[in-house]
Amino acid sequence: MSTAAERSQFRTEVIAGLSGMPPTLPCKYLYDARGSELFEAICQTRDYYVTRADLALHETHMGDIAKFVGKGAHIIEFGSGAGIKTRLLLAGLDHPRAYTPIEISTVALAESTRDLRATFPNLEIRPLQADYTQPIDDQALQLDPPATKRVIYFPGSTIGNFERQEALDFLIRMRNIAGEAGAILIGVDLIKPVEQLLRAYDDRQGLTAAFNLNLLEHIRRELDAEIDLDAFDHQSRFNSGFQRVEMHLVANRPTVIQIDDRKFEFQPGQSIHTENSHKYSIDSFQELADQANLKPKQVWTDPDDLFSMHWLEAA
Ligand code: AVJ
Repeated sequence: MSTAAERSQFRTEVIAGLSGMPPTLPCKYLYDARGSELFEAICQTRDYYVTRADLALHETHMGDIAKFVGKGAHIIEFGSGAGIKTRLLLAGLDHPRAYTPIEISTVALAESTRDLRATFPNLEIRPLQADYTQPIDDQALQLDPPATKRVIYFPGSTIGNFERQEALDFLIRMRNIAGEAGAILIGVDLIKPVEQLLRAYDDRQGLTAAFNLNLLEHIRRELDAEIDLDAFDHQSRFNSGFQRVEMHLVANRPTVIQIDDRKFEFQPGQSIHTENSHKYSIDSFQELADQANLKPKQVWTDPDDLFSMHWLEAA
């Protein structure tokens, strides 16, 4: 279900990652159809507290959030907007001027747009098919008449996937898109005891393990690679230097991954690093925002103080 160009890009990135020392794989490839299904299931588990806390935060503070957004705003979401959080936001706001989900997958964008239009028939929904990690054509975001302000909405703590410099660059880009009158509403997962973090990324139902291992299955299928899936085990690790949870696939026996004529050998205990989820304190995230020339004006947390959402202003 992908074009030749996409598959060639996938192959190039996989080979580059596996050739690295230590070996890595890009986390975006976790989300094939099966991976997306598994991620949805992870969000329902007790151990993965992130989604529940983010939702509770939306439910608890939507009135106050709506005050910050104000009337007539253009909400721009980085992601498809298929989730229940988007619905809570759009339902809670005071006459938003328009809503634009930015999403790379044409199919996901069309589906979520259709569903949202059915729920919010009076809201102007202007989907934009684009990769939000790449520069975005500002023309496509202009409204006539214009909105009072742009608000970029990025829930879920996806910012956690980025390393510090990437996260900073990303915040600067968001600021540029929002413009001087604009603001950013961004979800950020909080630092908490290590055992709780490790559990969240190694749930007792084994769904995160299946999610991580499915990355190898995705590669095997799409790139016609030779991979012994049983030779790898899922592991979550806490990297205290970088304050992040890491997902790894650790070889449990000598094994070889072969893609075309390229062979990658693994000894028992050697790992492939597949994902980072950086955790922040409220202060450490506000400091990062400050470096992006964004002013932290408000922060909300869920009732259990597991998760945060920041209101950052460009001006
Ligand atoms: C979707 C990036 C927010 O890092 O917590 C969940 C992805 N990986 N379990 C996260 C994920 C393993 C998730 N984000």
